[in-house]
Amino acid sequence: MRQLFRKKPVGYDDSDFGLRRCLSAFDLTLLGVGAIIGTGIFVLTGHAAAVQSGPGVVLSFMVAGLACAFAALSYAELASSVGGCGSAYGYSYAAFGELLAWIIAWDLILEYGVSVAAVANGWSGYLNNGLEAIGFGLPEPLTRGPTALAWNGYLGGALEWFGFDPHADAIQKAGMGGIINLPAFLIIIALMVLLIIGVKESARINAAAVAIKLVAITIFIAVAVFNVNPENWSPFLPFGWFSHDVDGKPIGVLAGASIVFFAYVGFDAVSTAVEEAHDPQRSVPRGIIAALVFCTVIYVIVSALMTGIVPYTVLNVPSPASESLLRIGHSTAAGLVAAGVIAGLSTVMLVLYYALTRIIVGVSRDGLLPSFFTVVHPKTQTPVRTTVITGLVMATMAGFIPLGILAELVNIGTLAAFVMVCAGVIVLRSTHPDMPRPFKTPGGILLPICGVISCGALILFLPYETHLRFLGWLAVGLVIYFVYSIRNSKLATA
Ligand code: ALA
Repeated sequence: MRQLFRKKPVGYDDSDFGLRRCLSAFDLTLLGVGAIIGTGIFVLTGHAAAVQSGPGVVLSFMVAGLACAFAALSYAELASSVGGCGSAYGYSYAAFGELLAWIIAWDLILEYGVSVAAVANGWSGYLNNGLEAIGFGLPEPLTRGPTALAWNGYLGGALEWFGFDPHADAIQKAGMGGIINLPAFLIIIALMVLLIIGVKESARINAAAVAIKLVAITIFIAVAVFNVNPENWSPFLPFGWFSHDVDGKPIGVLAGASIVFFAYVGFDAVSTAVEEAHDPQRSVPRGIIAALVFCTVIYVIVSALMTGIVPYTVLNVPSPASESLLRIGHSTAAGLVAAGVIAGLSTVMLVLYYALTRIIVGVSRDGLLPSFFTVVHPKTQTPVRTTVITGLVMATMAGFIPLGILAELVNIGTLAAFVMVCAGVIVLRSTHPDMPRPFKTPGGILLPICGVISCGALILFLPYETHLRFLGWLAVGLVIYFVYSIRNSKLATA
């Protein structure tokens, strides 16, 4: 039993594992902004405004941003003091021991891996719309993976082939879906190649794409600010703060907050760059906080404007930012914003993919996954095997699996990790009061406690089914731990 709680020593570990230290605080802030601004603001704002929060979606963004701010301060403190491989995983290892650390790592793999595949689907949607607009639309079957119905269709085909089922033909027809979401598949392969080539190179391309994304947001704000009709903000809270609709789905500002929380997913990815940052004790906390503050301000402005220029009821579309501009007659601005979104979603995928590989390297280095994943290529100084394997898995998910439901899991996984990070600060303040803390969360343990409560509450506002699916994912993680990790971990074999 005691081995479940064995802990790594705390204290800043600056050892060199072969990854290159090349990122400054500014690079890290851009990395954060690259990961943060994406599907959440460009896609989910419209859905949340239309069916959960109304114009009050701006309050949903504030609530989710506040919960993230508490978590960000805790992240910053642990990034400056605990170090290690960065991430909630490394901190939990020091604070709570191996089993909980593994659960968090398993959580983060879900967060980053599923996010990349889900965002790839959104990216593909925007790209296909753009290609169609200029007359180069892809054939329909190459723009969508097989739907759940389509899998039924294949089943029907197989049954018919064996002559088993008189209804096989009907089952097959009902299942007409696509063959593969080719753009989603290919963009992940392209990012895989980029991440293999090198981190500094990836950071440069990221910086360029972040700039394009910010230009798109500036265009949106510049056009929208002169077209606000205050009547669109009334009623401001058509769904109230929290209740359930006729199907039992949570609605209201708080339920909206637990969905638009996705818009903030990724600021924690900055902490996974701790081994590749210059002076990480200072640059990582600065990068995390600067990125979060910047994005929160942008979200509040953009969501207020989006619901101010058109009625919230028309926003439940795949591209609400450009759709709302189109509706007020600004088609050029709508096209430019859509192009910026394509760049923006690419950076989100790049940074989350990067974070995923670094988490897996860290976990494998500790022996919880096979050491096969830890190898860094001598020339590119990047973990090529991990990058290729995760890239192929995510590309396949993005290309073939309908991801709607899985994407909901991202938020619950991330929120659970944030709760652990805040709790980690509270525990380490009491178990290691004298540990050097170059960055210390102000106000003692008050803000970390607020973080545990607010992130915990956002978990509760998510749909019940999401809770169940998350428990399923955790169960798989526990099986891996007890079958493999517990015997092979570095602490077990030391
Ligand atoms: N925060 C990222 C997004 O909104 C994951 O796409």
